[in-house]
Amino acid sequence: MPGATRGTDLPAGRDTGLLGKKIAGYLVQGELGRGGMAVVYRARDLRLDRTVALKLLAPELARNDTFRKRFAHESKVAAAIDHPHIVPVFEAGETEGVLYIAMRYVPGQDLRAVLDREGPLPPAKAARIAVQVASALDAAHAHDLVHRDVKPGNILVAEGTDSEHPEHVYLADFGLTKKSLSLTGITTVGQFVGTLDYVAPEQIAGRPVDGRCDVYSLGCVVFETLTGAPPFRRDDDMALLWAHQYDPPPRLSAERPGLPEAADAVLAKALAKAPEERYGTCLEFVFALRTALESGRPAVAAPAAAPAPQGPQPPPEPPRWAQPVFRGIVERPERSPG
Ligand SMILES: Nc1ncnc2c1ncn2[C@@H]1O[C@H](COP(=O)(O)OP(=O)(O)OP(=O)(O)O)[C@@H](O)[C@H]1O
Ligand SMILES: [Mg+2]
Repeated sequence: MPGATRGTDLPAGRDTGLLGKKIAGYLVQGELGRGGMAVVYRARDLRLDRTVALKLLAPELARNDTFRKRFAHESKVAAAIDHPHIVPVFEAGETEGVLYIAMRYVPGQDLRAVLDREGPLPPAKAARIAVQVASALDAAHAHDLVHRDVKPGNILVAEGTDSEHPEHVYLADFGLTKKSLSLTGITTVGQFVGTLDYVAPEQIAGRPVDGRCDVYSLGCVVFETLTGAPPFRRDDDMALLWAHQYDPPPRLSAERPGLPEAADAVLAKALAKAPEERYGTCLEFVFALRTALESGRPAVAAPAAAPAPQGPQPPPEPPRWAQPVFRGIVERPERSPG
């Protein structure tokens, strides 16, 4: 399992027999993965007879009152966002002192596992994934919700609908972020901090964050999907935090020769140290990236006999049958017959 397990004292399902146990009306069937503060199980919702992903939070979090309040509030906000690329939350609650979230079970793998298996992705695939994550993040930002923990482990990659959409991507874990932890002081007692590979400079500095911190993290994720590694790699956590705050990121095209240089400037802007120097939205970033990646492709040869027309061209005339419809709406010069 890619996510770290440091600091979690949640029992492993296999070890303690949570498998087969009923929790809040869900029958635990198998472990899907575990992170720093939770274990996620595949479970059967016995009321609706469907499979769900059931996330159980570490008991020490449930004992912290600030965390519980924040958990309740943020689960509510997250559940209110209805978006094709955000994992739908079905229910969040508490049973026997355990906080849990039931959400859509997403079959497939998280992006961490995809990258570990496949290495750097083809640019087109990386762009397809990035666009879906970006649209989810922008939707969340429109609800004043900042994710704050955008990373491959929170990006779930399921099978898409057809060959033009080979993968359908879900962003997971709104409202369950390190921020919730740091506010409660839990991280100060040596609890799990999580990966620092994708964290924005302003988060490190403890400055207020907005959607642009997700632009930065998405930039780090995109960098990794294209090159196989996040922009900053250092031997220890302090050096890594320093790098996010002060070191210029490496050039994308230097890390993966063959990528167009136009993409370097796009990544540099997404990874700017100051939020106001980044793209204003995640989609703005990803569309710029896509354009840059496509610019690197060999240009399609134009037919030799037809020189490109100069200057702006007038729009084509509507077909004959449609002309009565347009008459009176737009003044057009009368067409000469024939
Ligand atoms: N809705 C879901 N459907 C299927 N698998 C899921 C779902 N949600 C999470 N998972 C799996 O469970 C794993 C563990 O999730 P979890 O959020 O606990 O850890 P993480 O995201 O790796 O780290 P962190 O503790 O920082 O959030 C995920 O990486 C993912 O593979
Ligand atoms: Mg997660």
